[in-house]
Amino acid sequence: MARLPILRYPDPRLHTIAKPVAAVDARVRRLVDDMIETMYANDGVGLAATQVDQHERVIVMDTSEQHDSPLVLINPEIVERSEEMALAEEGCLSVPQIYDKVERHARVKVRALGRDGAAFEIDAEGLTAVCVQHEMDHLLGKVFVEYLSPLKRNRIRTKMLKKTRDEAKGAP
Ligand code: NI
Repeated sequence: MARLPILRYPDPRLHTIAKPVAAVDARVRRLVDDMIETMYANDGVGLAATQVDQHERVIVMDTSEQHDSPLVLINPEIVERSEEMALAEEGCLSVPQIYDKVERHARVKVRALGRDGAAFEIDAEGLTAVCVQHEMDHLLGKVFVEYLSPLKRNRIRTKMLKKTRDEAKGAP
């Protein structure tokens, strides 16, 4: 397995729309395994292939308390959404150290293929519902900061560009 570099907002590649996976083969399983390693190495609860510059419909998540239950969602589709909405704080490995509240469906039913290529469904609520909607947005080229006001988004954009510049110069 290998850790993959994560694209940082406002990298334009984060706005790429991912294509469906045609077959869950060895290449896709390797991408899944690398994404799981990358997610854990960065203390994330979710990662979409878009964030590692692979534009296929693949998500990995782990919202368990022990961080020992990875969930793999290939070609995920939301098949049911609750009318009830919920506001929760979100962060993103592509927008480090930025957290803000986003309104999402409180519960969603998701159909996907697992790492073994078999179809399954999950009823997600709480953090899992937030995470799956956040990660599925990535596959459509959408980053959570796009739900925030233009003012906040511009501030975040400036902050991220500065952080990337400072890191390139070797500043702490
Ligand atoms: Ni994210």
